[in-house]
Amino acid sequence: MSGRRLLLVDDDPGILRGLTWSFDGYEVLTADSREAALRQVRAHRPAVVTLDLGLPPSADDATEGLRALEEILAIAPETKVIVVTGNEDRRNAVQAVGLGAYDFYQKPIDAEVLGMIVARAFALYDLEEENRRLASSRRPDFCGIVTASPAMQQVCRMVEKVSRSGASVLVLGDSGTGKELVARALHDLSGRKGTFVAINCGAIPENLLESELFGHEKGAFTGAVRQVKGKIECAHRGTLFLDEIGDMPMTLQVKLLRFLQERVIERVGGRDQIPVDVRLVCATHRDVEKRIAEGLFREDLYYRINEITVRIPALRERDDDAVVLARHFLGIYGEAQGRKRLKLGADAIAAIRAHPWSGNVRELENKVKRAVILADGPVVTAFDLGIQAPAGAEDGDGAGGGLATLRELRDEAERRALSAALAAADGNLSEVAKLLGVSRPTVYSLLKQHNLQGGTA
Ligand SMILES: Nc1ncnc2c1ncn2[C@@H]1O[C@H](COP(=O)(O)OP(=O)(O)OP(=O)(O)O)[C@@H](O)[C@H]1O
Ligand SMILES: [Mg+2]
Repeated sequence: MSGRRLLLVDDDPGILRGLTWSFDGYEVLTADSREAALRQVRAHRPAVVTLDLGLPPSADDATEGLRALEEILAIAPETKVIVVTGNEDRRNAVQAVGLGAYDFYQKPIDAEVLGMIVARAFALYDLEEENRRLASSRRPDFCGIVTASPAMQQVCRMVEKVSRSGASVLVLGDSGTGKELVARALHDLSGRKGTFVAINCGAIPENLLESELFGHEKGAFTGAVRQVKGKIECAHRGTLFLDEIGDMPMTLQVKLLRFLQERVIERVGGRDQIPVDVRLVCATHRDVEKRIAEGLFREDLYYRINEITVRIPALRERDDDAVVLARHFLGIYGEAQGRKRLKLGADAIAAIRAHPWSGNVRELENKVKRAVILADGPVVTAFDLGIQAPAGAEDGDGAGGGLATLRELRDEAERRALSAALAAADGNLSEVAKLLGVSRPTVYSLLKQHNLQGGTA
């Protein structure tokens, strides 16, 4: 399929010739009837079509043209069709847009104006094409790690390489960057038979942390009514994940170091030396070297836990990952809420790209989760996400992945206007028609189309 192919459909050979000449920057195809147009679409999949609605055998009305429009979109829904109508023929133009035409243009033809509309249609087509490419080229998840960023893919390759080595890995990254996800991937790919056991060293009070890690014997201290195995022992033949190791108190750092040197533990209150085989993965968002300089972290322990360092880049350093991940979470939470068809609007994408994401993937995940619940229609907006779209984002320039089509945006705007008018007019349809500047029958058909409840006539 070509991004430069333009099909001109008109029964007037003079017009076709003139346009062919003025669109010499494109690969121009022509057709003078509905059948000929369909043949061209099937064979060449043009990105953009200009379609005269008055086609033979009924050149004086739009029936043949509208039929051609529907059939073209059925064959190639991604095609941008610009309908060309007679001067006084606004009604058919609007109907054509309702059927999925990208835009309309009224005769007499001014090649320059039509040229701009065609150029915009190509630009939108290219964006959507890029979007489809991104969506389909996304690598299958690597142990649940979704990314399109080369920096993050390098992290995945590193994880793959070191997972089987048994080396102690220190995972560094700001909060919410996916440290635990990486730790789990290291375990999943390690081939180790035991389980993955995680403990957050920053969240447990110092006096409890020791028995959490090493376990205790019955009667070791008040309240120790039975023997309890510690996390280290539970991770035997598996992986022990010490999260927030940078927050581990000094006293326990000494004990952990001894375990790492001798690979045996003693439960609190016990005498037996129990050999344990664990693979150690640690994580912290802290600057451990600074903690060492401040005397808060033991240097010898640091070298033990840090045979290999995996550094996870912040979300804002990962190209377009924010958009890719937003789409990923939209899929997950949309599915969970029964809203599979939700898409990111152009302003949402622009806002996601501009947001600093100091809370990284966790912040993004939470914002998308919230938006899935808040979104009114099929399109998630920056407002639903609770973040600011940068100025000028609403015209959609430069917005890529997940872009809602113009038609969807129009639908959405129409639906919102209709609901607002319904509310303002307290359900009085004559009033709604007046507010929106359309006829009552149009209001009826819009209500039906958008599945909205009408009020009184
Ligand atoms: N690349 C990714 N692909 C898919 N989901 C991700 C990715 N990175 C992070 N997540 C998800 O984001 C959330 C935060 O990730 P995780 O808990 O691993 O981060 P963390 O660095 O350990 O965070 P914290 O510092 O808050 O402990 C999780 O729900 C995780 O599943
Ligand atoms: Mg974590």
